[in-house]
Amino acid sequence: MSAALDYTVTSITQHTGAEVCGLDLREVRDEATAQRLRRVLADKGMIVFRDQTLDPPAFQRAVAMFGEIMPQTVARFTLADHPLVGFVSSEDTDKPGGVRIVRGEQYHTDHSFAAAPPAYTSLFAVALPSVGGDTQFCNALDAYDDLPVETKRKIDGLKVLHVFKSSRSPRKKAELTAAEKAKLVETVQPLVLKHPVSGRKGLYLNTAHMERILDMADAEAFPLIDGLMQHVIQPKYEYRHKWRAGDMVIWDNRTVLHQANGDYDPAEKRFLYRVMVRGTPLQSAD
Ligand code: SIN
Repeated sequence: MSAALDYTVTSITQHTGAEVCGLDLREVRDEATAQRLRRVLADKGMIVFRDQTLDPPAFQRAVAMFGEIMPQTVARFTLADHPLVGFVSSEDTDKPGGVRIVRGEQYHTDHSFAAAPPAYTSLFAVALPSVGGDTQFCNALDAYDDLPVETKRKIDGLKVLHVFKSSRSPRKKAELTAAEKAKLVETVQPLVLKHPVSGRKGLYLNTAHMERILDMADAEAFPLIDGLMQHVIQPKYEYRHKWRAGDMVIWDNRTVLHQANGDYDPAEKRFLYRVMVRGTPLQSAD
């Protein structure tokens, strides 16, 4: 069956995001629609699909249009019957029976410690608080473009060691089981990446995982990272997504940084399914 022909694709901000309305992702079977959506994602860095009705298998199928699904890292944040479908919940705790944490609360890009970090991550809203719980996105390609030439010259080609939990991590992370820890890797990533689809240069930043810049003293490296981070998260690069029931959002981890907000009533449930799409090793822009 072919997808509806009359769906609309509208830019959200000048730099980031497209909103797709009138398309039921369960009905998309044709390659032409899939190709168009992949192009929109490459151009705009994230897509909001409105008014979706997705159970876990349908969500997984919808995301698979963008590539191969990547396994989740923490088993206890996955659905028992659908292990490739994770979740983010207002009831998440640092360890079983532990204290509540808001996962993803500082700006980051997903799994930057991995040798091939996920190209895309997608969330589908299952339950939302009445107020708050937005997800923010900042465009790290545009932010790079606007840097002074001398900063670009200084940072192009720098390499950064990313680990699961940086000693400088600004956020508390979930505890892993011994088996999960055994699978962890550390990876040297470019500070400035070359986007694999557009070829544009972008800042690749994740303060929860960045341990050090190679061949640079920490006294110089950490203020440099913090300064670049402050640059990217300026409101001019931001799109703040206010969730509506039925929203499926997918973003490109090489284009945008994102962060969750725990600013809602903890008595109200917030629950989103989460699926990642496999990426390729990052290319340096130098
Ligand atoms: C995440 O960082 O993947 C979670 C985002 C959110 O819960 O808004």
